[in-house]
Parts: sequence; C-alpha cells; structure tokens
Amino acid sequence: MASLILASNRLPIQLLKDGTIKRTTGGLSSALEGAGIGEQYTWVGWGGPCPSAGRSEEDLKTSLRSLGVEPILLSEDEIAGYYDGYANSTLWPLLHYMQERSRFDARWMPFYQQVNEKFATAISEIADEGAQVWIHDYHLMLLPQLLRKKRPDLKIGFFLHTPFPSSEIFRALPERDALLNGLLGCDLIGFHTYSYLRHFISSLIRILGVEADIDGLWHQNRHIQLGVYPIGHNRDGFQKAATTNTFLQQHSAHAKHLGSGKMILSVERLDYTKGVPEKLQAIRTFLESHPEMRGLVHFVLVAVPSRRGVEEYEALTERVQCEVGAINGTFGDVGHSPVQFLHRSFPVEELAALYALADVCMVTPIVDGMNLVAKEFIDCKYPSHRARPGVLILSEFAGAAHEMSHAILVNPHDTAGVAQAIHTALDMDEPQMWKRIHAMQRRLELNDAGAWAKRFLADLSSATSLSHCPQ
Ligand code: UDP
Ligand code: G6P
Repeated sequence: MASLILASNRLPIQLLKDGTIKRTTGGLSSALEGAGIGEQYTWVGWGGPCPSAGRSEEDLKTSLRSLGVEPILLSEDEIAGYYDGYANSTLWPLLHYMQERSRFDARWMPFYQQVNEKFATAISEIADEGAQVWIHDYHLMLLPQLLRKKRPDLKIGFFLHTPFPSSEIFRALPERDALLNGLLGCDLIGFHTYSYLRHFISSLIRILGVEADIDGLWHQNRHIQLGVYPIGHNRDGFQKAATTNTFLQQHSAHAKHLGSGKMILSVERLDYTKGVPEKLQAIRTFLESHPEMRGLVHFVLVAVPSRRGVEEYEALTERVQCEVGAINGTFGDVGHSPVQFLHRSFPVEELAALYALADVCMVTPIVDGMNLVAKEFIDCKYPSHRARPGVLILSEFAGAAHEMSHAILVNPHDTAGVAQAIHTALDMDEPQMWKRIHAMQRRLELNDAGAWAKRFLADLSSATSLSHCPQ
C-alpha cells in the first residue's frame, strides 16, 4: 500500500530482453527522478515493450516490482492503439499545435480508455485511504475521473508536461469533451506556463461551457485548483555527475579532441517537435556564409531514437540522416566532418561532460512544453566543474524561454536568423557569456526539479476538500 503514488505512462526504467535495465530518456522521467520525493512513494507505469518470450506476466511483474515500481503491462494491441496511436499520433502533435500531423482514427480511443482503466484499477488497489496520486501527462487524461469513481477518498493531481494549445486547436479533437471531463476528476491541475493554463480555461468554457477563474473552479460541487508549475531540471543529479570518474574521463577525451575548435552541441529525442531539420538548414546556411569557420566548428547532434513504432518518427530519422550526410559531403574535409550525428542515448555523466565543454548549445524546437536540456546546459557551466563558458541559443517557442531571457532567443523557422545567432554566439566575449550564465543560474537554483515537485505536492495536499461551493 502507498500514501503517495506517481502515475505516468513511462516508468523511469525499462527491462530489456537480456534482463538488463535501461534508463528512460525524456524530460518527465529525468525531472521526476531528480525530484527527491523520498522513498515513500510508488511509481506506477509502463516499462516499455516487455520481453515476454518464455516468461509469464506474473514473472515479469515480479521482476519489475523488485526494482521498486508497480508495472502496467500492455498488449501489442494496446501499444498500437493507445501509445503509438491515440497518445502519440493524435494527442502529441495536436497538443504541439501540429494539427496537420494529428491523425484521427476511431479505433484508437477504446484502447486509450482501456489503458486508462488499467491504471485506475492498479492504483485503486494499492493506494492507502486518503493517499495522494500525482498523474503525469497526456497519456492519462481520462485517469483522474476514472480513479475518482473508484476511490473518492483520494487526492488527485495532474500535471501536463506538454503545451496546452489554443482552444481553436484543441476543439478539433473528436474526443475533446471526454478528455476535459477526465481531467475534471482532479483536485489540482498544473501546467508549465500561464499561456497553457489560459488555453485550458478557454477550452473549458468553449467546449464544456464550464467557467473557471485563473486559479480554480467549482464543478459538480467540488473545487478544482488550477496552477502554474514550471518544471525544473535534476540539479543534484548533474552536480553529482560532474564529480564522477566517467565525467572526468569524457571531459579530458573531448577537450583533447576539440583542441582549439569550437563545439556546438544539441541534445534531444529525435522528435519532429524539436526542429532538427530546421536546425540543419541553419547549420548549412552558417557554413555556406562562413567558409573560414568550416574546419573549426564541430556540430555535435545527440538525437536519441524515440517512438519508433510511429511512422512520422521513422521518416524523420531518414530525413535527418540524409541531410547530415549531405552537409558533411559538401563542407567536410579529409579528417573533419562538421556534423557528428550521435543517434543514441547518453548517461547523465557523459551529457554533463558535453554540456561543460560546449561553446554553444542549440535548443531550437518548433514547439516544446518546457525543454530541460536548456536548463541542464546552463547549470553545468561552473568553473569548479572544469566548464568552459558557453552561449545558449534558445527557441522562443520553448516553455523555457519564459524563464531564460539571457539566452539568444531565436525563431527556429527563420533560417538566416538562427545562422546569424550561431555567429553571434561564437563571437561573444567571455565576460559577456559568464554574465548571462550567472543571471540564468541564479534563477535555476531556485526552481530545480525538487522545488517544482515540492510546490506541486504541497498544493495538492492543501487542495480544499470542501464539497460545496461557498455562497
Ligand atoms: N537525455 C538523456 N540522454 C540523452 C539525451 C537526453 O538523459 O542522450 C535527457 C536530458 O538530460 C533531458 C531529457 O532527456 O533531461 C530531455 O528532456 P526535454 O525536456 O529536453 O525534452 P523531452 O524529451 O522531454 O521532450
Ligand atoms: C516527453 C513526454 C513524456 C515522455 C517523453 C519520452 O517528455 O512529455 O511523457 O515520456 O517525451 O517519450 P516516450 O514516448 O519515449 O515515453
């Protein structure tokens, strides 16, 4: 039994065929891991496609439970309809304003409903009387109401890790009423920014005719609190990583390889929201207009494979690989390829070494709920960790831009503007770089993943349990 339950589609770990454990890559997982909530919680979620050959479901569950999580197992049909389908082919693009990519297939919603029911059953069986349940992200928007029906005693919070788009976009969803009603089962609903919160409130009134204030609403004789909680990065994790041997070894190896060259880093899941093809266009423009820099710059692109079962992601991988090859073919030389495309996931210690050394970090998504890479890069810039100063180039369409005005803010669609930003960043003098870094670090220190989680859980615990609207 548990008094605090975290529920997210993804668990922070995945069990592989050979029995080894793989860490999950993504902002939700890395922030929650760094939230320092303590030992007294149970994390309920899916551990990715499980190797079932020769193993019973019970056996798999036992292995995962021994790792400290409560697993939800999904059938192949559920993975196709709920995860690849409704969550990642309908909701993910729509929540990121990419209506033209969003696919509406009536066969998917029943699986989304079924998996949300699975979570509700699993949680209701392990939650203590009056326990807090913190639900995460767009995969589980029906869960709050389903859970409330089974267990009205629970305190239920929901945090959305993506943007919430304008109601003009959200209302295109055939299942918009069901999703909004699902969320109204909460005691507290949180977003990264005020814009997302305002869009949610407009959707409530336009779609359901439910009125809300900026901080809450009364619905069916219950109060639902609304709030803004910009997520922070795993600060302790990165600070610790910078003291490890792996970090030191990687740091020396990269520093030696770079010599007097400049490293321009980017780190992301290979997702069409991250604007990788657009970034490559800007890199091409930069190399075309600055031939003198061709032998000096190393663009290091860490692009972690993601959602391989979804067609759009496969197509994107091919497109990016092709363009990287074309740029290297045009601007490379014997012994030097300007773009290094690293198509795999790196552990925190190795990322910390790259962040510490990079002269520039390009975070240029087309749309992003927050983006933790921007925060991690700046928070790895401490001289005590052998960091070189560096400049952050940040898309104005990332939630992080609301908090990081000392970055060079760019419009990722403006190829010439981004190419110019690369030049400006490489040209910046060191005192100016440190001034900007320190201004951003001061803010990041106050709102890391731990502070974010603490604020949300404190509000959830004090969310009113009044069941009648005071007159
Ligand atoms: N990350 C990682 N290894 C990698 C690349 C990324 O652990 O090789 C982590 C990174 O440190 C960050 C997260 O993945 O914490 C990405 O989060 P972000 O908010 O930037 O984007 P998301 O993937 O959630 O859309
Ligand atoms: C984003 C989403 C998370 C998700 C992560 C990785 O951060 O907000 O919910 O876990 O991407 O995506 P994946 O589909 O691999 O879980």
